[in-house]
Amino acid sequence: MSNIAYIPGDGIGEEVTRQGIKVLNYFNDLHQLGLKFEKFDLGAERYLKTGDILPDDVLNKLETFDAIYLGAVGDPRVEPGILEKGILLKLRFYFDQYINLRPIKLYKEEFCPLKGKKLQDIDFTVVRENTEGIYAGVGGFLKKDTPDEIATQEMISTRKGVDRIIKYAFEYAREFGKEPKLTVCDKSNVLTYAHNLWQRAFKEMGQNYQDVKQDHFLVDAITMKMVRNPEIFDVVVTCNIFGDIITDLGAEIQGGMGMAVSGNINPDSISMFEPVHGSAPDIAGQNIANPLAAVLAAAMMLRQLGESRLADQTEKAVVTALENNMITSDIGGELSTDQVGDYLVKTLKSNE
Ligand code: NAI
Ligand code: MG
Repeated sequence: MSNIAYIPGDGIGEEVTRQGIKVLNYFNDLHQLGLKFEKFDLGAERYLKTGDILPDDVLNKLETFDAIYLGAVGDPRVEPGILEKGILLKLRFYFDQYINLRPIKLYKEEFCPLKGKKLQDIDFTVVRENTEGIYAGVGGFLKKDTPDEIATQEMISTRKGVDRIIKYAFEYAREFGKEPKLTVCDKSNVLTYAHNLWQRAFKEMGQNYQDVKQDHFLVDAITMKMVRNPEIFDVVVTCNIFGDIITDLGAEIQGGMGMAVSGNINPDSISMFEPVHGSAPDIAGQNIANPLAAVLAAAMMLRQLGESRLADQTEKAVVTALENNMITSDIGGELSTDQVGDYLVKTLKSNE
């Protein structure tokens, strides 16, 4: 049995995750998965009404769950950053979600901006370190606002932090990889301290995973390869900043934000699954938002909960919807958000 905390959030968050919940409920009833959902009303409405962002009692309660399914947060009535930092970043930090898992998978050939690439050519996963590196917030100013100003921002790589992300990536490649192969992406030729540690950690950890092929790319070279030969990748592990950048490149080659999914994971604590896109206030409340990323995020959660077969079935239903143009207008269809969700459930039923 798994208890899922459901945080629809703001804007289109509720509209798109409702479709993911439809799919999860369908499987739940069919296979008696024992999924239990509890909804949390975090986001702009609550903040504007009560001033609460993510109160301690909610945080304590969330600790009792197995996973979090999230829509998006952010609202034009609230100063930018308050909800994003106060909810998303706080959850990631509090649950020490040190892994950001970003599948780069093409579901429809014509969405790919690269020439001549087939579905199977773009199908890999980036495992991004999510807590340290140059984003750790270490640094400062000297002589700020003077002509002699100095600003520093330090790249923090701890042995523990690097070891744990590389270990997770090897385990992930072993369990879910195609070949399996793990590629480490760094800049060890220039970052001769921080990424020398990454190199040593990767080689040492690799000794325990002789069944997983091991490979290395410098970050500049990997951007070229992701465009020219994305088919060579299986699982890629990288530091925080490089992961941030290459996953945006990845989102584009997989067909844009409407398909991109993100898992913030701590295998020993509570992981959080979400579409990469935001709350899209410009189209909120119109029942036209594309729910596929939110549904794929639900599939990713199923995979992490040990239900890989159901995750595969969900992805297959998404491919069917794309093939038959049973999709929203942003990607060339005519259906509403709810109709896409209903179509996916219908497709799953007919595939049983
Ligand atoms: P956004 O991703 O919400 O929207 C960018 C553009 O893409 C908009 O034109 C929107 O209509 C469109 N779009 C996004 N998702 C779509 C979907 N599922 N179907 C159809 N069209 C879609 O990014 P934006 O506009 O920069 O941010 C809006 C709010 O969302 C801000 O408050 C921002 O801070 C927040 N945000 C939250 C994130 C999260 O919760 N993880 C991530 C990114 C932004
Ligand atoms: Mg980014």
